Amino acid sequence: MATTTTISQAIGCTGLPFSLVDADLLVIPWFEEEGPAAVPGIDAASGGDVARALQSKEFVGRSYDIFSTGVTDPAWRVRRIVVVGAGKRPGFGTDVGRKLAVAVGLWARQRRIARAAFVMRADASGGASTAQMAQAIAEGLTLAEFDGGSHKTREHDVYAPPAWTVVAAGGEEPATQAAEAIARGRVLGECSNLARGLANEPGNTLTPQEFARRAAAVASEAGVAVEILDETQIARLGMGLLMGVARGSDEPPRMIVFRYDPPGAPPAPVLGLVGKGVTFDTGGISIKPADGMERMKDDMAGGAAVACAMRAIALLRAPIRVIGVVPATENMPSGRAVKPGDVLTSASGKTVEVINTDAEGRLILGDGLWYATQLGATHLVDVATLTGAVVVALGKSTSGLFGTPPEFVEQVRRVADQVGDRAWPMPLFEDYRDQLKSDIADFTNTGGRPAGSITAALFIGEFTAGLPWVHMDIAGTAWVDEAKPYLPKGASGVAVRTLAELAFSDFGRQT
Ligand code: BES
Ligand code: MN
Ligand code: ZN
Repeated sequence: MATTTTISQAIGCTGLPFSLVDADLLVIPWFEEEGPAAVPGIDAASGGDVARALQSKEFVGRSYDIFSTGVTDPAWRVRRIVVVGAGKRPGFGTDVGRKLAVAVGLWARQRRIARAAFVMRADASGGASTAQMAQAIAEGLTLAEFDGGSHKTREHDVYAPPAWTVVAAGGEEPATQAAEAIARGRVLGECSNLARGLANEPGNTLTPQEFARRAAAVASEAGVAVEILDETQIARLGMGLLMGVARGSDEPPRMIVFRYDPPGAPPAPVLGLVGKGVTFDTGGISIKPADGMERMKDDMAGGAAVACAMRAIALLRAPIRVIGVVPATENMPSGRAVKPGDVLTSASGKTVEVINTDAEGRLILGDGLWYATQLGATHLVDVATLTGAVVVALGKSTSGLFGTPPEFVEQVRRVADQVGDRAWPMPLFEDYRDQLKSDIADFTNTGGRPAGSITAALFIGEFTAGLPWVHMDIAGTAWVDEAKPYLPKGASGVAVRTLAELAFSDFGRQT
């Protein structure tokens, strides 16, 4: 079995003065319009080179610009100074801090730096606490370690990441506040990277069975109880929606069930996390066009987020009970595949007329959400690469949020924002529901093109038993097509940190 345990080293933390930091290079964020004296000691150590770069405008502090220069002061242990543009000061906060850390982490790795230090400036927090900023930086440095070339046999352009130390400017007290937060950020970054690795994996290696094995390993290593339901158990539970989607595939479906039950946790709330686990989505009989279809290997990114969030929740010892449910299947065309017009009966008893077999995610989530309610969830959050329509609505940097009550949606939005998974609420007005009317069954599985991400959410909401519920549509955010300095191409790991941090937030009291 593939082992998931990352043997990465911890990120260090120190409150030492810059001159005593022991590393190959020292990274310092620098704001636009800051002079050479903005961070005392830096310009002098560079022999005036930082001032010269600012003067000539070779470096002006624009976001993610990097200027690297030697240290001339022989009393310093560090031999290079790297200033990284932090943009305009008013926009600074944990989000920019995390992104800077990713950008610099990727830069340092490309240059095969062995040991690097990242300065957390005492005068630049953007309102965040020392711990919050330290966590975000540790997350960013860790996210920069992800390698998407897992199937390359020859040496490729990624090198061992540097060993990082965070330098808490201002001495021992901020360093003490930062240390624990850095360890937390490290865990959240690693769990995000594990989810990226799973979403990056092709459909031929990551079949539903293999996905279940790996997801189980990810979570059980951290002490989460995992159960994998096979096709017989799925049939016995009457999960006709999941079975309907799986019919067309030679690969049997799986239902992956996670339970985190810490001793002493209150009986409620019980957070139920449900993730779409379609290991490859061809569209089925309503087959997708060939162009770009290879991307559909990541249609289990929501399920990966749930599995990896369960790992983080256990490693970080969340104080509440959490259940995870991931229906896993392929969506394939074949002589046995579900056809347009077919009617499926869900485990909840509700019947569905399948209009378009490519709207498979909502089908398997229907049975998944129902199962989470059966297992005792009091609050539901599902994550899914569900609709192209959400990409039209919100683009590629913002996930769609849907659900009820509004306070719970807002709580998820706030947590998502804090961890760098931007998300925005969409309406679930009742009049949209008419689009799901069926002549033969309780409802259809598609409502046409208008408001496509909303009708998908309304469908899913039919299986939540009226519980507080948030649906996160990550179709636009799970995969990066255009690299940014802080976000390389490929799987993004979206929603892992949102789900994990949600288990530490006070959502139970909100609703
Ligand atoms: N997995 C896709 C959604 C998707 C699209 C994810 C683009 C990432 C990028 C989903 O199963 C799907 O095919 N949805 C259809 C629904 C339609 C048939 C109602 C869609 O959005 O086109
Ligand atoms: Mn589909
Ligand atoms: Zn899909």
